[in-house]
This record gives sequence, C-alpha cells and structure tokens, in this order.
Amino acid sequence: MKKILVIGATGQIGSELTMALRNIYGGQNVVAGYITGAEPKGDLLESGPSEICDVTDAVAITEVVKKHNIDTIYNLAALLSVVAEGKPKLAWKIGIDGLWNVLEIARENKCAVFTPSSIGSFGPNTPHYMTPQDTIQRPRTMYGVTKVTTELLSDYYFLKYGVDTRAVRFPGVISNVTPPGGGTTDYAVDIYYYAVRGEKFTCPIKEGTLMDMIYMPDALKASIDIMEADPSRLIHRNAFNIASMSFAPETIYAAIKKYKPDFEMVYDVDPLKQSIAESWPDIMDDSCARNEWDWKPVYDLDAMTRDMLEKLPLRILK
Ligand code: SER
Repeated sequence: MKKILVIGATGQIGSELTMALRNIYGGQNVVAGYITGAEPKGDLLESGPSEICDVTDAVAITEVVKKHNIDTIYNLAALLSVVAEGKPKLAWKIGIDGLWNVLEIARENKCAVFTPSSIGSFGPNTPHYMTPQDTIQRPRTMYGVTKVTTELLSDYYFLKYGVDTRAVRFPGVISNVTPPGGGTTDYAVDIYYYAVRGEKFTCPIKEGTLMDMIYMPDALKASIDIMEADPSRLIHRNAFNIASMSFAPETIYAAIKKYKPDFEMVYDVDPLKQSIAESWPDIMDDSCARNEWDWKPVYDLDAMTRDMLEKLPLRILK
C-alpha cells in the first residue's frame, strides 16, 4: 500500500485529491500537508493525518516523510497565473525552490513524485490547435516559466537519479468544492456560482477565446492513474497533455442557459487575463496520454454543467 504525502492539501486541487486518495489507499496512508493559515477542516481533518508542511521548508518536509514512511509525494503547492504575475519572486520560490526541496527529499527517501504542469506551460508561439505533446514551450508568464522548469527539473531527476517523477498538464480545473484563486481559467468556475445565485455574470475573457478545461473528477482520476501507470509503457513523463473539453465563454454560457434560461452574462474584458488566455492552447492533443496510460475523460461540458448545477446549490445556498 502506498504511503502518500499531499503538499498543498487544502488548496483547490489538494482538498479533493487528498479525499480521493484516502478513499483508495486508506485514510491513515494519506497525509494532508498544509501551511499555517490554511488548516484542514471537516472531513479532510477527520479522515486521516495532517501535518504542517510548507514546500519551502525542506526540514519540515523531511520530518513528515520520515515520520510517516512516505513513498509518494503529490506536490500541489503553487501560485496560479494571475497571482504569480503580481508576485513573480514568490511564485518562483514556491514553484521551483519548493520543487527542488521535494525532488531532493524524494531522491534521498526513494519517493515517487507528482508535480503538475499546466496549459500555462505553453506560450504565444506554441501551435494553438491540437497542441502536440512535444512542441514549443516559450511562455511569457511567471506561472508558465515555473511550469516549464517544473517539467524539465522533474525529468532531470528521473533521468539522472531515477526518481519516479510523472505528471500531467492540467487544463483549467472546474469544481464545486474549493474555488480556485487567481487563475486565468477561474471564470469558468465563477460563472456557475453566479448562475446558481441567480445573478448576472460579468465575464473577464473575450467572446471566442478557447481554453482547455477539465471537471475535477477527471482531474483527480488523471492524477491517480498516471501514478499507477505501468512505467514500461511511459515514453513521456513530465508532463502529459490531458484534454477533455475546450470552450469559449459564449459556449459555457449557452450550456448553463439551457438549464437556467434566465441567466445573463455580459463582458468586461480584463486585459491581463485576456493576454494570458490568448497565449494558451485552444485545444490540446492528448493522444500520448491516451496511448501510454489509457487516459480517457468521463465528463463533457453538458455532463459537467448538469453536475455543477445539481451539487453547487447544496453547498452555497444553505
Ligand atoms: N488554472 C490555471 C490558471 O488559470 C491554469 O493551469 O492559472
């Protein structure tokens, strides 16, 4: 049985990934690593052990890894794209100095490591339509710079030291549990909150701007399946394109309006978010993930919309 540490366990992805991992591997075998000020609560706190584990503190990570005999680390600590533009040095410290800590500790303690990359690892001169697995990666955001470096450093530790690093490039992740904070794709989460509250939504992204998105259950499945994949089949490692849906604001608006006919959306484009969005793929080619570890998403836009509109009200309209 795996012994897993999730760093960033109370964040957007971590809060749900920790619970999904506990369901599979057992509550006691999955440690929720958090930072002061972002303590776990409720089910996350009660379903297994938790430890303060700041990715920038190598001593603390080492102690947790040794105390719990950790053999797999999910390193989810990061600043999202818009926040990282305002705090580039902190984004580097968390994303890359933190990753260095994790990889060194993994090397010393023989741990496998998952550190996600993103659609943000691509840039304006990347082919935008069916973006290939191996292509130009010259992002112009600090978030993207840290994600390309994450991919390179993770591959380096695999090739040089045999550390079992693997990951995916996440599209914008949409969920009805923990909201994202400061990403370019956040509008595709926010829009559901407005629809459910019966309020008009002001969209910060221009009509016609395509971005890859994924529903959280598929994002969790990808994170778990890649770490369970047969290593002899993996030609790539850091990190796999995964795709499940790609849409522009007017398409998600129409998908919601089908179930909420009175829902209204207007545009007030945010120039920073728009320039980031335009530099990212319209739609990625995920055939390597499909061929090398049988990646296959479950949710399309309509299935996700039905699920969001069913579950979100139960949480936010109490
Ligand atoms: N969701 C991220 C962002 O918008 C991209 O991976 O920053």
